Amino acid sequence: MYSRPRRLRRTQIIRNLVSEMKLDKDMFIYPYFVVPGKGVKEPIGAMPGISHFSLDELVEDVKAGLNFGVNKILLFGVGNEKTEDASSAFSWKSIVVEALKLLKDNFGEELFIATDVCVCAYTTHGHCGLLKDGYIDNDLSLEVISKMALAHGRAGADMVAPSDMMDGRVGAIRKVLDGNNLTETGIMSYSVKYASAYYGPFREAADSSPGEGDRKSYQMDFRNSGEALREAELDEEEGADILMVKPALAYLDIIKEIKQITNLPVACYNVSGEYSMVKAAAEAGFVDEKEIVLENMHAFSRAGADIIISYHTRDILEKGWI
Ligand code: PBG
Ligand code: ZN
Repeated sequence: MYSRPRRLRRTQIIRNLVSEMKLDKDMFIYPYFVVPGKGVKEPIGAMPGISHFSLDELVEDVKAGLNFGVNKILLFGVGNEKTEDASSAFSWKSIVVEALKLLKDNFGEELFIATDVCVCAYTTHGHCGLLKDGYIDNDLSLEVISKMALAHGRAGADMVAPSDMMDGRVGAIRKVLDGNNLTETGIMSYSVKYASAYYGPFREAADSSPGEGDRKSYQMDFRNSGEALREAELDEEEGADILMVKPALAYLDIIKEIKQITNLPVACYNVSGEYSMVKAAAEAGFVDEKEIVLENMHAFSRAGADIIISYHTRDILEKGWI
C-alpha cells in the first residue's frame, strides 16, 4: 500500500496544514430586526438568541458587536403601518430609514449596512408585492420596491437587498438609484430565493406571513435548479453586485452551480428555520452547538459561498469559534 490518505489526518497540525479552506471572520453578515419604541430588546420566541430592537437598544447592541468584528449587518423593519399600497415601506419616516440615519451617525464607515427591500412587512395582505385582481402584479410592485430602495439609499444604506422575487427588480432599482446620484449604493440581490418552509420562524419575527395563499407565484420551486441559473444570470445582467442563494443548507448544490457561472461574489442566507433547528436541537442536548454550527458554515464555504448571512454570526465571532 503506497497511498495512505490517513497520513495527512494524523495530527491537528497536519490537518490544518492541508485543509482546503479556512473560514474568515470577514465573511459574515448579521441580521437585525428593528422595531419602533424605546428600550425594547424583546427576544423572538421562535429564534432563541435573536431579539427585536428599538433604535436606542440597536445602537448599543451594534456597538458591542463591533468589538468582536460584527461590522456588516442586514436590517429588517418590523411593526410598521400596514396598508394596501405599502406606502410606509418607502416613507422617509420608516423605521429602517431612521435606523440607517442613526447608525451612520454613530458608526460611519466602521459599519457596513445592507437593508432588506421587500414590502411583505408593510402590506395588509403580507405578500411581497402589490395585489391587483387577486394576483401579485409584477410591474406595479416594481414601483414601490424601487421607491423603498431609493429611501434606503438616501438614508445611507451601503447596499440594498431586494428579497421580493419580482421580475426585473434589480434593473428597476439600479435605474432609480443611478437616476438619483446613488451610483455607489450596491445591490445584493436575493437572486435565487426558493419558496421555503425554512422561513417559518422569520415570519413570526418580521410579522410578514401572507394572510392568504403562499409565495409560490414569485419565489422559486424547490424542484428546479436550471431556473436558479437563469435568475442569477438575469440579476447579473441587470446590475447586481452580489448574488445570493436562499435558503442555504438544503441548497448547497445551487450555491455550487451559481459560483461556477458567475464572477460576482456569491452569498448564501443561512435562514431562520435552519438557525432555529440547530438551536432547538442544541438546547435539547441532541447536538453540540459549536461543532454543528462550524460544520454548517464550512459546508457553505466549501460549496462556494464567499459571504454567509447568518443569525449565528454573533456567537461565532463573540465566542471566538473561528
Ligand atoms: C422577506 C424576507 C423573508 C426572509 C428574508 N426576507 C421571508 C419570506 O420571503 O417569506 C427570510 C429570512 C429568514 O427566514 O431568515 N421577503
Ligand atoms: Zn417579502
